[in-house]
This record gives sequence, structure tokens and C-alpha cells, in this order.
Amino acid sequence: MKQKNRLLYFLIAAGGSIVLAAQARAQELSKLPYVPTPQIVVDEMLKMANVTAKDFVVDLGSGDGRMILTAAKTFKASGLGVDIDSKLVGLSNQAAKSQGLDERAKFIEQDMFKADISKASVITLYVLPDFMEKLRPKLLKELKPGTRIVAHDYYMSGWFPDRQAVLTVPEKVDANGTDKAYLYLWIVPSIVSGHWRMDLDLGTARPLPIVLSFNQEYQMLNAAAETVLGALKIESPTLKGEELDFFLTVGGINYRFTGRVQGDKLEGTAVSGTAPKPIPWRANKLAPDRK
Ligand SMILES: C[S@@+](CC[C@H](N)C(=O)[O-])C[C@H]1O[C@@H](n2cnc3c(N)ncnc32)[C@H](O)[C@@H]1O
Repeated sequence: MKQKNRLLYFLIAAGGSIVLAAQARAQELSKLPYVPTPQIVVDEMLKMANVTAKDFVVDLGSGDGRMILTAAKTFKASGLGVDIDSKLVGLSNQAAKSQGLDERAKFIEQDMFKADISKASVITLYVLPDFMEKLRPKLLKELKPGTRIVAHDYYMSGWFPDRQAVLTVPEKVDANGTDKAYLYLWIVPSIVSGHWRMDLDLGTARPLPIVLSFNQEYQMLNAAAETVLGALKIESPTLKGEELDFFLTVGGINYRFTGRVQGDKLEGTAVSGTAPKPIPWRANKLAPDRK
């Protein structure tokens, strides 16, 4: 790797100077260099994304193919590597064949911005910050809720990761000028923003109509709950892919609601210290003007 790129990687990975980050942003997107992720970091990234045999992993900018080859070999997953460099793609396909992994590990020559990522359950990335920023709308638009995105060293500003970790990796020093590897994991969230109508059946004469409202920034939620008699206390809303979780106090009893987002429906169960068994609940999305 050229001295200039090495310095750029080092400074941005280390928290980076604003000046160099700006240079990286101004950099031609097509000049993303080939720098392999050390094997120990590859392993940790795939572990962080909890990759299993059920997963389809897509590495955008797949280099020598190590991410997908490891996902197939060690984690028994299937995967696709996409790289713009035909030589690296050729080497990766050869490696897949020689390791007997070519049924599950495939590599194609393509611009990552044109790749079909809709079938991925895990995306892996080791790309510069301007690539991360440019990829973000594609990732959010094309990936299914619950898809895990795991990145080495660079993050998407403003989208707080669901998990992050720092590793000390001495072999990074030569190529990157630092022995630190920063790992980030995001889980693509369902869309829950807006108003939802729930008729909560607590075994009283009539179900209680409640309007749940969520403001959403990526997976971060603010929630409100209202009945005709006034607001209810709703706390700690969390969203992990399609899984929604919050605490709601009704009639002085605090219930923990867990559920799944399925398009315009929410469905799950609520439990409390006093309810003898979980209470099923459902909510339907209201049109924006029909709160
Ligand atoms: C930093 S390397 C990462 C390699 C590999 N993912 C890893 O972690 O070891 C980035 C890779 O992206 C590829 N690349 C650069 N621009 C690309 C583009 N527009 N579309 C697809 N691949 C690209 C480069 O050829 C290079 O192999």
C-alpha cells in the first residue's frame, strides 16, 4: 500500500483528523485501495455478526476473498464477494475451487454500488469513509430488516452502531500504521415511525384502544402512548431488526411488550409481574393523518 494511503488509513482509523477525513471524502470513489483485513479481524467480524450456516454473506470490495472464504469454511455460510478488480476476483474464485468451497463461495467482478445485495443476511465492509457514506442509502433501501452489517475500521456517521469493539492486531502496523482494528456492527432496523392502533385485551369488559407513536432515527426510538383518557407511561423502546420491545404502564401495572414488526402490523406478547400468562397484542399502522 502506498505511503499516502497508509497514512490516511492510520489517521482516520485512529479517530482521524478532520482534514484527512475531508481529503478521503473528496477522494475519487474508484480509488479505494486493496488492503486485506487481517485474518484474526475477519474471524472476529464474522463472529460479531453471529454468522451461521443459514447466512448469506456479501463482502462489498472482496479483495482476495478471505471474508467469504472464511464465512464458508469456518462458519459454513454461503456468500458472494464483489470486487471491481478482475484479477482479485479470479484469484478468489480459484481459491474457492481449490478449497472445495466453490458451491457456497462465489466472486463476481462488479462495482459494489451496482451489486444485488437484497439476498444478503450479512454484509461485510472494509471501505473508506466516503464509500461508507455513499453505500448507506443502498444498504438501508435494499437490505431486509434484521440484516447485519459489519465493518472494519470505518463507520457511518450519525448511525450509531448496535455494537462496536477494538482489537489490538500487531500485524496491522505495516499496512495501516496502527495496531488497532475497529469493528462496528449495525442491524438494519424495520420502519416503525408513525402511529399504531392497538386494542389491548386485558380481560376487562372491552379491549382498551391505545395509540402508540414512534419517532425513529435508524434503530433509535422515541415513543408515546395515548388513550382517550390521556397519556400512558411508555419507556425503553428498543428495536433490533424486526424485534420491538418496550415497557407500558396500564392501570398502574407495568407490562413488558415484545413483538415483531411485519410491515404494517406489530404482533407479540406482553408480560407483567401480575399477569398469570403472556397477553397477546397486535397493532396496525395508521395512515399518517389518522392518529
Ligand atoms: C480495503 S480492500 C478490502 C478487501 C476485503 N474486503 C478485506 O476486508 O480483506 C477494498 C477492496 O475494494 C475493491 N474496490 C474498490 N472500489 C470498488 C468498487 N467500486 N466496487 C467494488 N470493489 C471495489 C478493491 O479492489 C479492494 O479489493
